[in-house]
Amino acid sequence: MHSVKELTEKFSQHFVKHQFTNKPASLYEPLNYFLANSGKRIRPVLCLMGNELFDDITDNAYHAAMAVEYFHNFSLIHDDIMDAASLRRGLETVHIKYGTNTALLSGDVLLIYCYEHINKISNNYLPRILHLFNKTAREVCEGQQADMDFEKHENVLLEDYIEMISLKTSVLLAASLEMGAILGGASEGNCRHIYEFGKNLGIAFQIQDDYLDAFGNPEKFGKEVGGDIKQNKKTFLWLHVLETANAGQKQELLNLIKDNPADKVEKVLKIYKDCNVDAWANELKEKYFQIALKHLHDIAVVSSRKKPLLELAEFLIQRDY
Ligand code: IPE
Ligand code: IPE
Ligand code: MG
Ligand code: MG
Ligand code: MG
Repeated sequence: MHSVKELTEKFSQHFVKHQFTNKPASLYEPLNYFLANSGKRIRPVLCLMGNELFDDITDNAYHAAMAVEYFHNFSLIHDDIMDAASLRRGLETVHIKYGTNTALLSGDVLLIYCYEHINKISNNYLPRILHLFNKTAREVCEGQQADMDFEKHENVLLEDYIEMISLKTSVLLAASLEMGAILGGASEGNCRHIYEFGKNLGIAFQIQDDYLDAFGNPEKFGKEVGGDIKQNKKTFLWLHVLETANAGQKQELLNLIKDNPADKVEKVLKIYKDCNVDAWANELKEKYFQIALKHLHDIAVVSSRKKPLLELAEFLIQRDY
């Protein structure tokens, strides 16, 4: 068994070999720029871990891992356009540096390359992997659209927020794990549990992301703090505060969305703090983390093999970047 650190290194060695040298450089250079600045590489590592839980890591798992990391990076390039974000991994976003049209097309080309990696998977596994991958990719689009639709609503239900973050974020973590498991020969039952582990962990992961968007240290987090507030995103912070705030605070929040003043972020953050969002964030995160752990427990392999997954899961919900 390999640790999180070892798997991240193994995958990174694999990943850096892939430089885009095609023409026109104006299309591919933005990808080299973006990919050179690596993120945490959670999804490919989950894929390799899902694989290693059942067998020695196979080439097929590396192909799937490459595909999910490409897909994730493609989704970030487009997400930053949708969210009008200026900073990613501590650097200028692709659309700010190269223009929106190039960011759209470079993202598209990365998605096509992602399928080249899927296509390297052995024929006996390919239809099942492709089906899961395509279902996941569709769901990410559905979640991203819901995320944008909610910007225009004053309030949304907590269950609709959870459904939205499941789609935009957690199904990709879940599918990364399940693809690894399928490629390691896991049974149907084990595949289901590893998927549900990833899905619930992914919900906790996005809750932490939404928390850091408001309260993270921008130097470490690498994204603009308060970006979600600026964009009127309906995160659990917003939903919870609208429910618990007093009438004056509530009116102030609604006015802030309507008038969009220059000091909106500071004002919303102050109300968040006054309403003790910290405690609520931890409670909500813990709820989904516990469901995730239950599914991890139910995977029918000896528990010592699950250690790296547990280690990664614990990091993901406590992380500050
Ligand atoms: C960012 O994902 C997008 C979300 C779904 C929250 P990560 O936090 O995994 O991003 P990187 O790849 O490490 O930068
Ligand atoms: C992003 O959610 C989900 C996808 C990229 C599909 P966010 O918009 O919260 O991610 P960040 O905060 O920009 O990384
Ligand atoms: Mg975003
Ligand atoms: Mg977004
Ligand atoms: Mg975010």
